[in-house]
Amino acid sequence: MKIKISPSILSADFGRLNEDIKTIEEHSDYIHVDVMDGHFVPNLSFGAPVMKDIDSKLPLDVHLMIENPENYIDDFAKAGADILTVHFEATDDLHGLLAKIKDLGMRAGVSIKPGTEVEVLEEYLDELDWVLIMSVEPGFGGQGFISGAVDKIKWLREHAPELDIAVDGGVNDKTARLCEEAGANVLIAGSYIFKSDDRREAIDLLRGVQGEGYDGA
Ligand code: DX5
Ligand code: ZN
Repeated sequence: MKIKISPSILSADFGRLNEDIKTIEEHSDYIHVDVMDGHFVPNLSFGAPVMKDIDSKLPLDVHLMIENPENYIDDFAKAGADILTVHFEATDDLHGLLAKIKDLGMRAGVSIKPGTEVEVLEEYLDELDWVLIMSVEPGFGGQGFISGAVDKIKWLREHAPELDIAVDGGVNDKTARLCEEAGANVLIAGSYIFKSDDRREAIDLLRGVQGEGYDGA
């Protein structure tokens, strides 16, 4: 499957967010928006009102790392989310949440933390548009890749040939290849892209393209 890149703006400069987004927009497929509540994860980021001000033509891939996600789904739909991903560990009614996300016209995703077995997703595969495998403990950018993610990706790809499988956390040019070989088709990367001196080159390296650059095809 063609690799898609979703830069995580958690590593961008929030004081000039739309300018930072312009630097990656032409070469990327989505924008990854990390929403943190200080409860589900030990960090805070921002919510729907800030997300609403993101000015980009790219689809917003929104990763909710929050408790009680059911209370915020409408807000994120109104704020322009295209893909809405909730955490498996944050809900007792994933079937209901996925249905609600789709009813509001968004694509429905779920994420699992490094300590959660991938097999828990088996009963949801028919309802899912997107699965996000966490390859770090959620909460912060710039952490090292946890290799247990690779076998989870393999299991998922074997069970869901058409599913969008995203990997998030510690993705760089080297870990990207492990994820791609295992069957991931969406690479989410924050620090590797935004801390690079040449963001376009960093994105090309994530895609496994060297030299000529990505032409958007
Ligand atoms: C972590 C977030 C990630 C984070 C990834 O909880 O979900 O999206 O931005 O950052 P890097 O790519 O730096 O590991
Ligand atoms: Zn994320």
